[in-house]
Amino acid sequence: MALFSKKPSITEKDIMIKPLPQHIAIIMDGNGRWAQKRGLPRAAGHRAGIEALKKIVECALDINIKYLSVYAFSTENWKRPKEEINILMDLIVEYIVKELNKLHEKGVKINSIGDLSQLPPETSKYIIAAQEKTYRNNKLILNVALNYGGRAEITNAVKDIAKHVSEGKLKIEEINEDIVSQYLYTKSQPDPDLMIRPSGEMRLSNFLLWQVAYSELWITNVLWPDFRPQHLFEAIYDFQNRNRRFGGLDTKD
Ligand code: IPE
Ligand code: IPE
Ligand code: MG
Repeated sequence: MALFSKKPSITEKDIMIKPLPQHIAIIMDGNGRWAQKRGLPRAAGHRAGIEALKKIVECALDINIKYLSVYAFSTENWKRPKEEINILMDLIVEYIVKELNKLHEKGVKINSIGDLSQLPPETSKYIIAAQEKTYRNNKLILNVALNYGGRAEITNAVKDIAKHVSEGKLKIEEINEDIVSQYLYTKSQPDPDLMIRPSGEMRLSNFLLWQVAYSELWITNVLWPDFRPQHLFEAIYDFQNRNRRFGGLDTKD
């Protein structure tokens, strides 16, 4: 009977019945553990993580997700050994360079979020070029979070707002939540509806702090390099069956 007790997996068909999330954010975590489990160097885990990213971007395009935000390197990841940081930067550039034409043809807009000025110039050069090439695309907006920190983003927004107030470009009375949103990297984008974290950690790790105020969280023990479209479908299916109240009451009450 064990054969029949296995939960059937969610397929693309199952998630196409109800509205899809417009914006999905993913904390691509667990590369190191994936490598460790196999007795491989951490770099192998990061490389496998890039392969998972490719599959998930393709899947997001196939099912018509409009915004996908992926956490690739945090402001806290500078604490890692220099060697690992270099490998991560190289892999990100390699992904962008190798995949750029394909992504461009498919209508992906590459949009980096985070402070590029602190990245090695040869890394930021390729990212800026990819952003410029894909600027007009709008099938899928791919926010790649590089040297991104939610607190740094909000701190920069506060500084820019203060500057504009002191220059007379903005009045204090005009500052509201929408205005603050316009000072973030994700300006003019909807907030993520769904935030996915593979590898089981129950934390946000400084990702999109302002924007995820009302996002639905979906955490899985699957490590990021093992994350496949079937897991994305599961997350979306779960999301579609949740009751989002935004502080109000059930609509059916
Ligand atoms: C995610 O995997 C990649 C980055 C944070 C850049 P990790 O390298 O954090 O993998 P674990 O958490 O050690 O397994
Ligand atoms: C979050 O993962 C950052 C990225 C995936 C880029 P971390 O591995 O850095 O997060 P913590 O240290 O477990 O919170
Ligand atoms: Mg980690």
